[in-house]
Amino acid sequence: MRHLFLMDPIETVRIDKDSTFALMFEAQARGHEVLYGLVPDLFLREADVRAVAQRVRLQKVQGEHATLGPREEVSLGDVDVVWMRKDPPFHMGYIFNTYLLDLAEARGTLVLNAPRGLRDMSEKAWALRFTDLVPTSLMTQDIGRIRAFAEELGTIVVKPLDGNGGEGVFIVRKDDPNIGVILEASTQHGHKKVLAQRYLPEAKLGDKRIILVEGEAVGAVLRVPQGVDHRGNIHVGARVEKTSLTERERAICARIGPALHEAGQVFVGIDVIGDWLTEVNVTSPTGIHEIEAFDGIRVQALVIDAAERRRSRRDG
Ligand SMILES: Nc1ncnc2c1ncn2[C@@H]1O[C@H](COP(=O)(O)OP(=O)(O)O)[C@@H](O)[C@H]1O
Ligand SMILES: [Mg+2]
Repeated sequence: MRHLFLMDPIETVRIDKDSTFALMFEAQARGHEVLYGLVPDLFLREADVRAVAQRVRLQKVQGEHATLGPREEVSLGDVDVVWMRKDPPFHMGYIFNTYLLDLAEARGTLVLNAPRGLRDMSEKAWALRFTDLVPTSLMTQDIGRIRAFAEELGTIVVKPLDGNGGEGVFIVRKDDPNIGVILEASTQHGHKKVLAQRYLPEAKLGDKRIILVEGEAVGAVLRVPQGVDHRGNIHVGARVEKTSLTERERAICARIGPALHEAGQVFVGIDVIGDWLTEVNVTSPTGIHEIEAFDGIRVQALVIDAAERRRSRRDG
């Protein structure tokens, strides 16, 4: 099989942290051809979606992890699987790229995750349709409404819809003297929608990342906030811990899994705090290394298996 990984510059990959590296390495170990390309180099000419790509040879030595071949132009039509693994920010540039990937998919190339889902399944907003699974939520840009919400609930969390890594996630108490300032800053004075949510005290115990492959839960890892920082994000120092799934978490996966599977979202990470779903990450989920280290579950093998199955179904 011939894989093309569209991603951030490969020099910046951390071989023991980034799930993309684990997927690439797994493909290589199976004797597949691995190509690497940058998203800005994706282009279309007469309905042929093309990329500038390089063959890559990987080894598990940070700094010398990727040996690149010459730059060549490839048609996505000549690739078996395109992996869209570019990290957010999720902005119009990202969306434009999904239009190109849509077309490549329509012409028979397997694109994972399916570009339509990458575009439509906003990591914070998509989950909100499952009202019984998410904490009480308000999505608005109206500062007055958020203030009333805080009055009603006492303590809330306010977060950007396009953030990640815990950036811009505030805990706001109804009597916080900074409440006005926080809401002005996060809504850009009422010009930008944000997500306000009931504050879940269980966040202190950790934020659980659960990985679903083709809609089935296959592994999980817990991220526990450290020190005074309230956020369970590895980027800001949360510690990872071994974990398992509760009955409620299995129920959450069973509810949302089929929709993810149906939408061609093969490799997805969801986040659960306490009993509540807070995020569905389809763009570039992570967690493979941690789950392998704690539980010996090789999520990368399950993901590449899924790609192989989809590819052979298409050929068959
Ligand atoms: N409803 C909530 N109640 C309590 N803490 C929350 C809530 N939502 C988010 N947090 C805290 O903020 C962190 C980041 O929030 P999250 O919604 O996962 O955004 P991001 O995409 O930036 O990771 C979480 O790990 C958790 O510690
Ligand atoms: Mg998160």
